[in-house]
Amino acid sequence: MAPEPVNVREFQQLAKEKLPKMYYDFYAGGAEDESTLKENMEAFRRITLRPRVLVDVSRINMSTNILGYRISAPIMIAPTAFQKLAHPQGEVGTAKAAAASNTIMVLSFNSSCSFEEVASSCNAVRFFQLYVHKRRDVTAAIVERAEKLGYKALVVTVDVPRIGRREADIRNKMVSPKLKNFDGLFSTEHKSDTGSSLETYVSQTRDASLQWKDIAWFKSITNLPILVKGILTGEDAIKAVEAGVAGIIVSNHGGRQLDCSPATISVLEEVVHATKGKIPVLVDGGVRRGTDIFKALALGAQAILVGRPVVFGLAAKGEAGVRQVIEMLKTELELTMALSGCPTVKDITRNHVKTERERLL
Ligand code: FNR
Repeated sequence: MAPEPVNVREFQQLAKEKLPKMYYDFYAGGAEDESTLKENMEAFRRITLRPRVLVDVSRINMSTNILGYRISAPIMIAPTAFQKLAHPQGEVGTAKAAAASNTIMVLSFNSSCSFEEVASSCNAVRFFQLYVHKRRDVTAAIVERAEKLGYKALVVTVDVPRIGRREADIRNKMVSPKLKNFDGLFSTEHKSDTGSSLETYVSQTRDASLQWKDIAWFKSITNLPILVKGILTGEDAIKAVEAGVAGIIVSNHGGRQLDCSPATISVLEEVVHATKGKIPVLVDGGVRRGTDIFKALALGAQAILVGRPVVFGLAAKGEAGVRQVIEMLKTELELTMALSGCPTVKDITRNHVKTERERLL
């Protein structure tokens, strides 16, 4: 048995010990050679901090605003699919932990708990992540349902027109579970004789023809603010602003889609500059330490989201594990802010970090 974790990375081993190999590999794995998966974490390490001293850090305030919602720290929960495969509590456990930590959970479209159960289980601010179905009437019905259930924003994931080649899932012949959320709308039960049934599920349901102009359609069917998740370039950030979205999530899907796409922290600043401060920019991918969060804020992110550490926390200990993961990140961020001379998140500036390129100049 792995010892009691003292940092979020150590939850991974606990999860590995608890989960069947097929599910552990599904959570842990990335696309092809997993270069992007590794690079997401490595790129954080290459950024150094520029701490300032003799600042009053006797009180640290990590709280921040996301789309008008006050949260305890700039740490949000990324949407991750099929959480009941990690723990019987599934997404309800994660939502309760989000409420206890006073943060925002983004519920995955591929939630194994019903959207209704998650909505009624806690009073956390919840955002709803959307994958766009080939049939617009199906998508419209799901968006309407999410809005009625009190989800506060629509996070449209734009980096999965097709699923990346996740070789562990192909090797394990990963079986994706039936999702009761879509009973009566479309079938989520797919079989594949040759590899991952997820690939079949996505290719048979997902609208790969989605384009920037379709953002207008989303705006016509919902009053919810729309965030686009999966932006990696300044060019697309400009398009997102032009399309009138409420925010951007810089993401490469945790290295699960296009291998060799850049580490998110390495392109964050390009995206932030392109938006010219018009809309908030969030980032996910490889965040495992409070120092990572500090670096992301210094480079212009308003908050970060965590994916795998939350799933591993859930697998290890259910709701309590997720809570522990969030609290560990908060504790580390608080210490980082104190040791860097930043009593509030607004005090964290571009001058508090140095990228590898800047060090070489
Ligand atoms: C994901 N991610 C994801 N994203 C999304 O928009 N909808 C989804 O259903 C899922 N499902 C999912 C499952 C699993 C097991 C993982 C690991 C990831 C991507 C997720 O939201 C986020 O972008 C990454 O997980 C961030 O990287 P880290 O924190 O896992 O390194």
